[in-house]
Amino acid sequence: MALRAGKIVRGATGTYELLDALKAPTVYKAQVLSGPRINKRWAVVKTAVGELENVALKREYNNYKIPDIASSPYIRTLYDAVGSFEEDVRHSSAAAEDPLCLVFEWMETDLQSLSSHQYRRDSRLPKIISKSVLSALDTFKRYNAAHTDVNPNNIFVSNIDGHSPVVKLGDLGTMIKEGFNRQRLQSLPCRAPEVWQGIGCFHSSDVWSVGVTLAHWLYGRAIFGASDKIIEDHTEAWCIAKLQRLVGTLGPCMNHQPYKNEFELAEQLASMEIGPGLGKLIKVGTLRQELQSLLDPSVSTQLLEFIDYLLVIDMAKRPTARDALQHPYLQSG
Ligand SMILES: Nc1ncnc2c1ncn2[C@@H]1O[C@H](COP(=O)(O)OP(=O)(O)OP(=O)(O)O)[C@@H](O)[C@H]1O
Ligand SMILES: [Mg+2]
Repeated sequence: MALRAGKIVRGATGTYELLDALKAPTVYKAQVLSGPRINKRWAVVKTAVGELENVALKREYNNYKIPDIASSPYIRTLYDAVGSFEEDVRHSSAAAEDPLCLVFEWMETDLQSLSSHQYRRDSRLPKIISKSVLSALDTFKRYNAAHTDVNPNNIFVSNIDGHSPVVKLGDLGTMIKEGFNRQRLQSLPCRAPEVWQGIGCFHSSDVWSVGVTLAHWLYGRAIFGASDKIIEDHTEAWCIAKLQRLVGTLGPCMNHQPYKNEFELAEQLASMEIGPGLGKLIKVGTLRQELQSLLDPSVSTQLLEFIDYLLVIDMAKRPTARDALQHPYLQSG
């Protein structure tokens, strides 16, 4: 039976009453009715519909079996699981009654919903966001794993205006072993050059996504990606052309005809004029120019430099999360 508000779900260690849907029909805020190991009133219950989501939910559950992940202060905590994650659901008698669910800690907001405006004035929150997400990625790196979906809606924040804001990375359902290249992972705006090139998705691809995530959070909307696309189709070529305009030309793509076509078209789109005297088809400037257009408050030069430091096109020269945690911007203050 699907989840709905008012439903009571029983996990291995606690009982939860579903309240509002955060993302119907799969993600609900919940009240902790009993949870001997949970010293909190609220939680989030997440289920899956469809086969792909089910695979992702089980993968997420399995990732939390790794003690470093389960105990990380930088990764959204898993409280409990509902249903038999260890069995094949089709043979589970509980399957018809309670779908498989994961119960996570409640966080106040995600970065997508949090305006950066008042937090651009000083570097406190941008530093905490950077340190927390990079620390989570460093944990995954120890297992040669990549999260593959670092973006503002998977970064959660609590106690924002309090003494010590807490930032955590969530959504571990698409984590993979580094190097996966059978398809291009990562969301279009946060996708790293080597993923576009077809080389694969790596720890360093997540580090790229941290740079894009910071830029998008500061800007209040996407800069990378296809949200400004004004031609029909060719979404991928548009995104690649945008990368070229924002940060520079990517290396060659793998010898795969569809990718080669996209890269060729992107090259043309990047320099194409709309018509005589009408300017470029793609209006975006360099990433620096875009971020420097933010005023009152503006983004500090140190933060702009830190974002540039993360967004190195050549993955071999891009810092790892551990390198980035040592950067003077994060070490100071
Ligand atoms: N722990 C939490 N505390 C508060 N809100 C949450 C929490 N987890 C999720 N949410 C809210 O629910 C939304 C969807 O959650 P989540 O990202 O876990 O699901 P999802 O199905 O993976 O979504 P997507 O595919 O968009 O990433 C989040 O964007 C956030 O607004
Ligand atoms: Mg999500």
